[in-house]
Amino acid sequence: GIDIAPLLKQTGAVTYDAGFVNTASCKSAITFIDGDEGILRYRGYPIDQLAEKASFLEVSYLLIYGELPTAAQLDEFSTRVKHHTMLHEELRRFFDGFPRDAHPMPVLSSAVSALSTFYQDALNPFDDEQVEMATVRLLAKVPTIASYAYKKSIGQPMLYPDNSLGYVANFLRMTFGVPATPYEVDPVVEKVLDMLFVLHADHEQNCSTSTVRLVGSSHANLFASVSAGVNALFGPLHGGANQAVLEMLQGIHKGDDTVESFVRKVKDKEPGVKLMGFGHRVYKNYDPRAAIVKKAAQDVMSRMNASDPLLDLAMQLEEIALADDYFVSRKLYPNVDFYTGLIYKAMGFPTKMFTVLFALGRLPGWIAQWREMIKDEDTKIGRPRQVYTGQAERTFVAMGER
Ligand code: ACO
Repeated sequence: GIDIAPLLKQTGAVTYDAGFVNTASCKSAITFIDGDEGILRYRGYPIDQLAEKASFLEVSYLLIYGELPTAAQLDEFSTRVKHHTMLHEELRRFFDGFPRDAHPMPVLSSAVSALSTFYQDALNPFDDEQVEMATVRLLAKVPTIASYAYKKSIGQPMLYPDNSLGYVANFLRMTFGVPATPYEVDPVVEKVLDMLFVLHADHEQNCSTSTVRLVGSSHANLFASVSAGVNALFGPLHGGANQAVLEMLQGIHKGDDTVESFVRKVKDKEPGVKLMGFGHRVYKNYDPRAAIVKKAAQDVMSRMNASDPLLDLAMQLEEIALADDYFVSRKLYPNVDFYTGLIYKAMGFPTKMFTVLFALGRLPGWIAQWREMIKDEDTKIGRPRQVYTGQAERTFVAMGER
C-alpha cells in the first residue's frame, strides 16, 4: 500500500529495506561472519582460537592494525595505552553531576563524548597521528571511566589506575578495590573477563558499529562517533540484552513465571515478552561465541565454587527452546548475551554494569571500523533515502479556521 512513485521519479530506482536486512552499507576487511554455519573470524582468525590463545589487547591490535602484533609491538602498544589511563581531573568532576542511581551506560557515553572537549589535539579524522592519539586514549580511558561510573553508583571513592597491572586487572582493581586497602586480582576472573572482551571485540555491521560508522561518515571525530556507539549499544535488543537476560531469569526465579509459562508467553507473542539472549539477525545457527560463553559460565561457577540457580534456569530454557518448533523453525539459538550476565554476576558486577562490560569489549571493533571507514575512498556521508507515506500537497489553513 506504499506509493513509491514520487521517490522513483527522483532517483530512478530505490531499495526499501527496513532494518537493512539485505543491504551492505560498506566494504570491510575486519570481521567475517557466516551466519548459517556459525562462523566468526577476526582478520581471518577463528574466534575460538583467539578466545583461547590471545589477550584482549593483542586482539585489539589485530582488529585495529590488521595483523597480530609481535611481542615487541604488543609491549609497545600496551605501554602506550597504560600511559593514558588517567582521566583529566576536571573530567573526574563530571561524575559528581550525575544522579547517584544513574545507569552507567549514559554516564559512559557522556564521559566519552566529553573527551572531545579535553583532548582537542586528537579530533582531526584525516591526521593519522591525531587518530592514533584518539585510539590510544579511548582504549586507555574507557575502562577508567567505566569503573568511575560504577564507583559513583555505589557511593565509593574513585581509584586512580595502577599501571603496574595488566589491562583487565587494572579495570577490576579500579572497580572493586577500595582506597588504602590491598586488592588481589583473582587470576580466574581476570582471564575469563579478558576472554569475554575478546568475544565481544567486533561483530561487523551491528547496530552500534553501524552507528559509529554513520556518525563518522559526517567526519565527526572518533570520540563523538564512539560515544554514539555506546548509546546504540544501550538498547535491550542490542547490548542491553545481557542485562535483560538476567532480569528475565530473576523474574522466573522469583516465581513471576515458570519456565514453561514464560515460554508460552513468548510463543504467544505477549507484548514486550521475548526470550532475551535468543535470536540474531545474522546467526541462523548456534552463535559460536555463545558456545564458548556457556562453557566459561560452567567453568567459572565451579572454579569459583559458586552455584547459581539462574544458571540451571538458563540451561533449562535453552533445552526447552532448542526442542520447540517455534524456536527451531525460526532458527532462534542462544546469542552471546544469553550466558554472559551469569558470569558477570558471579564476578560480582551488578546487573546495570553488564552492558558497560559489553562496551569495553566492543571498543576496539568500533575504533577499527571507524578507521577503516575514514580511509576508504568509497566512503560518502551516510544518508539513506526514505519512502514518503505522508500527506500529498495541501493548502495552509489559517489558525482561526482549524
Ligand atoms: N524470542 C522470541 N521470538 C523471537 C526472538 C526471541 N528472542 N527473536 C526473534 N523472534 C521471532 C520474531 O518474533 C519473529 O517471529 P515471526 O516471524 O513469527 O514474526 C522471528 O523470530 C524473526 O525475528 P525478527 O525480530 O524479525 O529478527 P531480527 O533479525 O529483526 O531481530 C534480534 C534480531 C533483535 C536479535 C531478535 O532476535 C531479538 O529481539 N532477540 C532478543 C534480544 C537479544 O537477545 N538481543 C541481543 C542480540 S545479539 C547482540 O546484540 C549481542
